[in-house]
Amino acid sequence: MAPGDHRHLFVIFGGTGDLARRKLIPSIYRLITEDGLGDDCVILGVGSGDLDDDEYRSWTREVLVEAGFPQREVSSWSDRNVHFQRVPRDADSLDELSERIATIEDEHGLPGNRVFYLALPPAVFPSTMTRLGEAGLHESPGWARLVVEKPFGSDQASASALNELVHRWFDEEQVYRIDHYLGKETVQNLLTFRFANPLFENVWNRDRIESIEITVAEELGIGDRAGYYESAGALRDMVQNHLTQVLTLVAMEPPVSFNANQIRNEKVKVIEAIAPIAEESIVFGQYEAGTIDGEGVRAYRAEDGVDEASKTPTFVGVRLEVDTWRWQGVPFYLRTGKRLPRRLTEIAVTFRQPPLCIFHGHRDSCGIEPNVLLITLQPDEGFTLRFNVKAPGEPLTIDSQALRFSHDDAYGELPDAYQALILDVIEGDQTLFVRGDEAEASWRVYDDLLDHPCEPYPYVGGTWGPATLDASLALGGTEWTGERERARDAGDGTAPIDPRS
Ligand code: BG6
Repeated sequence: MAPGDHRHLFVIFGGTGDLARRKLIPSIYRLITEDGLGDDCVILGVGSGDLDDDEYRSWTREVLVEAGFPQREVSSWSDRNVHFQRVPRDADSLDELSERIATIEDEHGLPGNRVFYLALPPAVFPSTMTRLGEAGLHESPGWARLVVEKPFGSDQASASALNELVHRWFDEEQVYRIDHYLGKETVQNLLTFRFANPLFENVWNRDRIESIEITVAEELGIGDRAGYYESAGALRDMVQNHLTQVLTLVAMEPPVSFNANQIRNEKVKVIEAIAPIAEESIVFGQYEAGTIDGEGVRAYRAEDGVDEASKTPTFVGVRLEVDTWRWQGVPFYLRTGKRLPRRLTEIAVTFRQPPLCIFHGHRDSCGIEPNVLLITLQPDEGFTLRFNVKAPGEPLTIDSQALRFSHDDAYGELPDAYQALILDVIEGDQTLFVRGDEAEASWRVYDDLLDHPCEPYPYVGGTWGPATLDASLALGGTEWTGERERARDAGDGTAPIDPRS
């Protein structure tokens, strides 16, 4: 850990919720055991359930054992460092919580450093925020930091209202808006890849790049989240945040230093340069029944809690343009969907063809494959760079081959995104968090398209989204570069090209 006073109270609103169970408690415990946080972190779970400290400790132990930690080890840690405070849902003040915080800090000799993690459904966020501020919880002798989960608002107006509310009590320097994609090692590595390798940076522009595709495909459906997903849909759930964040890292200018605000300034400039999206440049889809990995999957409209005439999109494909000197005219295709054939997050950069083909009788159609850089963010994290070579022998034949880098081969298992993000909160580093103006700018890009009244195009569960004419027009063809390259590697792609044929 970086030097500094890390002793703090980590207050989780939604202390027994799904996020606390799946991500927060295991990540905090990993920081304690792997990153040297030790006993510097004391947890206070807050929730409406009728639990006492002992019951919350045994819940925490179960969560940790489920996550693979040994029972004996987690028992002594949770007995020392875990507390619970019940706050009834309808409580109109958090004064009782305020007193409890003071008692725990006193008991553990903590200096008053506090993390308030709002792991709550968006609907209760404003009221909790208000009560937290009115109870003066943010006024502490040490530092106080507020962590807010996505979604941050549901459009530009609501995000702006939330920012106003948060800023009533917290300065922007105290606010950590989570987009967990930014905590993924491979997403962070985009900055290193771009700004530590001038080899690529020099070709990273409209002169050399034909198009960029950003794909986030999921095999999963909506699980038991119909309540949230029906009002969100893929544009709010994935595109406005995760895909747009990845886009900013791909398209941003070099910051003057590796500093949170410098980096975020450059990201905001990219978002502000995204040209208005024409209706014909966006395609919405919704999954129908189908098969994934040999298992039948239900249609979206047949999922529990989903309206049987629902128009909520589970797939979005959108063509964006970033109007800057670097990117003018280069299409960025963003696509995401649930119930696609497999889980895959990937950036495909297709480079331009040679300006003049010396291998052919005619100059304008070279017939050789473009160079493609595939950056796979998950799973099978790594890069693949495709380039052309002369296949041995005569006649002269050009073949496409690949250079590969695999994170797993080089470094083994990657740390969890939440572990990285929580460590940054404790260390006070905001680089990987979305700034208030950034969140608002990002909603502004999609605001006019959020509540689209049309029927989404149906697609069969387990296929790569709607294959309609409109989809192909908007998305520059329905072929996905990454899929084409993998098919080629699997041996069912194109044969080497004889440029003289
Ligand atoms: C969440 C979305 O933010 O990201 C989910 O709400 C989605 O719908 C998830 O499944 C995807 O995250 P990951 O890390 O599994 O790619």
